[in-house]
Amino acid sequence: MARLLFAASEAFPLIKTGGLADVAGALPEVLGRKGMDVRLLLPGYRHILQRIEPPAAVAEVELAGTRVRILETLLPGTGVQTWLLEHPLFSERPGNPYYDDQLVSWADNAERFLLFSRLAAAISSGDTPLAWRPDVLHCNDWHTGPAIALLQPVQQRPRTVFTVHSLAHMGMFDRGTFERLHLPEQLWHPDAMEFYHNVCFIKGGLVYADWITTVSPTYAEEICHAPGGLGLEGLLQHRRDRLVGILNGIDHAVWDPATDQLLEYQYSEASLEGKHHNKAALQQVLGLHCRSDLPLLGFVGRLTEQKGLELLLPVLDEILDLPAQVVILGTGEPAYEGALQAIAARRPGSMAVLLAYDEALAHRIEAAADIFLMPSMFEPCGLNQLYSLRYGTLPVVRAVGGLADTVVDASPHNLEAGTATGFAFREASAGTLLETVRRATTLWYDRALWESLQRTAMQQDFSWEKSAERYMELYGA
Ligand code: ADP
Ligand code: GLC
Repeated sequence: MARLLFAASEAFPLIKTGGLADVAGALPEVLGRKGMDVRLLLPGYRHILQRIEPPAAVAEVELAGTRVRILETLLPGTGVQTWLLEHPLFSERPGNPYYDDQLVSWADNAERFLLFSRLAAAISSGDTPLAWRPDVLHCNDWHTGPAIALLQPVQQRPRTVFTVHSLAHMGMFDRGTFERLHLPEQLWHPDAMEFYHNVCFIKGGLVYADWITTVSPTYAEEICHAPGGLGLEGLLQHRRDRLVGILNGIDHAVWDPATDQLLEYQYSEASLEGKHHNKAALQQVLGLHCRSDLPLLGFVGRLTEQKGLELLLPVLDEILDLPAQVVILGTGEPAYEGALQAIAARRPGSMAVLLAYDEALAHRIEAAADIFLMPSMFEPCGLNQLYSLRYGTLPVVRAVGGLADTVVDASPHNLEAGTATGFAFREASAGTLLETVRRATTLWYDRALWESLQRTAMQQDFSWEKSAERYMELYGA
């Protein structure tokens, strides 16, 4: 049985800030079901330790002069054996894994995630008292890039896979930090982890991994060119034969409208009745006018430039005037939060803004809305549009990255062919977004056609099964 160590900085339901947690909370379990012997490795954040039964320590390891313990637990709701790195850098830090209340990155993130990477490398090279060593190390995003670089000199190293969930976060730190961290000097080189006079953690994975993957085929292409490559396009082109795009899947145990316990009314493509009830219930809870004759548009996500707030904000009033209702759930940049709140205050009954991180509400919005807004500037994969398709909530997306790969625009041709599942536009302008929303809301009034689109959307297969098999091919398992 092939052994896999899957290292990530977050995994649902233990700790989640975004889609990486959804992936790390689902993929290891599917791989386990397919016969792999999997260990999930996570930092032991205070947030996790406070919420689980005290786990047993299974090993104590010295990493470049720092002692850490490995705690063992199960990923809740799964049989996935999970190891937590226990150290004050994680266990004595409240709040978000990456930044403080002001959204400023923790000053010692380089130390924190290098320690995490060092542990992944130590387990992978058999440098711990554990009687287990992986055949494959699968790392995710910049937090784990150095693990792959550190394994380079190890003779008997496992095969390595590095997944880019977003190139936008590179883990860049200055030369002083590099020296303080005692990283091997040979890594300070443009062909290694140096990048414009900084050390760049993500390059550890991009330069040295046996396979680089990213979370959609289109994003794999986008990052090989400017501007999507953010300066790393040369390196990625050089490694193009080792770079593969594999779409994320949906965890049906968590996201299925027929069984979703967070919904007031479950429903399926066989009967969309429950969806209408969810809409009425949400309108009531949020203080929106209880109107079944108006389309309800939903947005769930981080309130950042990536998610298309620059396109959405200038036309929100016009969208509400179509007429339509809008509900927004998210947290993020204070300027966006303030602007959204101001519009909501002007438009009571039509627009609701919830500045919170709320798992249950995210599910309820997916179920209640008619249309889902995802006008991202870039989107490596995107999970919300997949959830929307599954919940019969037709997405309006910008055709980039994973959005381009998963949503089929309701063009006359695709409507004719019966393949349409949503609405896609290309030009990054507020006007084009508004036009596309108008196209969607107009079609919404054609109930029979809309329902047929909903059914096509709900039938799409974005399960993890296929994607997990593609990873296993790369693992050589
Ligand atoms: P990203 O990882 O770039 O944030 P994804 O679409 O891949 O985008 O994944 C976002 C995940 O985070 C989804 O599961 C989404 O439901 C969840 N999410 C984002 N913001 C919130 C929020 N404010 N409340 C609850 N869930 C949220
Ligand atoms: C990142 C990306 C998102 C992707 C997620 C999981 O957060 O922004 O598009 O779905 O990772 O891979």
